[in-house]
Amino acid sequence: MLTLSIIKADTGGFVGHSAVHPDMIDLARRALDGARTSELLLDGQVATCGDDLSLIMTHTYGADAQLIHEFAWDVFTRTTALAKDLGLYGAGQDLLSDAFSGNLRGMGPGYAELDFEERPSEPVICFLADKTEPGAWNLALYKMFADPFNTAGLVIDSKMHDGFVFEVYDLFEEKRIFFDCPGDLYDLLMYIGAPARYVIHSVRSKALGEVAAATSTQRLSLIAGKYVGKDDPVMMVRCQSGLPAVGEVLEPFAFPYAVAGCMRGSHHAPLMPVSVGTAHPSRFDGPPRVVALGFQITHGRLIGYRDLFDDPAFDDARRQANAAMDYLRRHGPFEPHRLPLEDLEYTTMPGIEAKLADHWQPIAGSLEPVHQEHREEPARAGTASGTPG
Ligand code: F6R
Ligand code: MG
Ligand code: MG
Repeated sequence: MLTLSIIKADTGGFVGHSAVHPDMIDLARRALDGARTSELLLDGQVATCGDDLSLIMTHTYGADAQLIHEFAWDVFTRTTALAKDLGLYGAGQDLLSDAFSGNLRGMGPGYAELDFEERPSEPVICFLADKTEPGAWNLALYKMFADPFNTAGLVIDSKMHDGFVFEVYDLFEEKRIFFDCPGDLYDLLMYIGAPARYVIHSVRSKALGEVAAATSTQRLSLIAGKYVGKDDPVMMVRCQSGLPAVGEVLEPFAFPYAVAGCMRGSHHAPLMPVSVGTAHPSRFDGPPRVVALGFQITHGRLIGYRDLFDDPAFDDARRQANAAMDYLRRHGPFEPHRLPLEDLEYTTMPGIEAKLADHWQPIAGSLEPVHQEHREEPARAGTASGTPG
């Protein structure tokens, strides 16, 4: 059994929140070399998207292994020290605890992990995103594994025709549920269409009994109870031979759909598929970016990566993302560019409400209470626990 782990953290931005400093990348690379030599890892590579540093690792310790999580924590502690030394922005931003204990759950870094038997040929795509939230993968995963207009194999490949099971987390109440698709498709969409709360955690092939995709689901603002940076999720997807083909896995990103994040984690903006060299969100701290790193995993070795969005076929998606960004930006502080009040990562609302509490007046000629029942608001799907700070 092989484990693929992507563990990531923002341990300091260069400049502002736009990129990782090359010296931090070098430091992480040397640490991974050491872990390979000491045989902690079968293989490891460093990659970045925006201000997030990802360690992409293969090993045999299984998901949630203390040894692997502790190693990643140690690397992030050292890149934090370097970031402090260089005076980089938000040094150690995602390290929420002073010391490591057991595993990384609730400690700030994000991670996606998958245990599997390596197939004779194992094509895997690691997706890294910046300036958005874990639910940003929902639309793409739905299209890859449930939409025949995206994935031809769902209709014409006998190993895919039975469908896939989606595991969905409720991030607010920390519980999970499984949807067996295509049968449960409409129920699934009711939840995952609200990606601030319901996030696809994994997807399993019914015919192969194999897990095909896994995402990171940590939502830092809720863990920490205060704003500490957008979650900037990662995802891994195994491809081909009864799973979606590489091209079917990439296809959803040809549409730069809107996600929450961007400036101050408080705006809707298009998710732009980009090459690794252009994954530096600068305009209005956006638009949010996604990179796709393709690997062949062979006896645990990471052969690659290939920079899969470095392809002119995604130029139109980038153009559309720029046009959508112009359109949304002109809304300034209005929805739907700015997030609804309950989803803002930054807010001044509690202070404003306290200041203005005594200034609100009844409106003359208001409807009598007897009419209130006709104006009841529909129940909300859910709101963030507490007010983000
Ligand atoms: C960080 C992010 C950025 C910051 C923004 C303000 O991941 O999304 O948009 O929120 O640059 O940052 P501060 O408050 O640190 O000045
Ligand atoms: Mg940052
Ligand atoms: Mg980031």
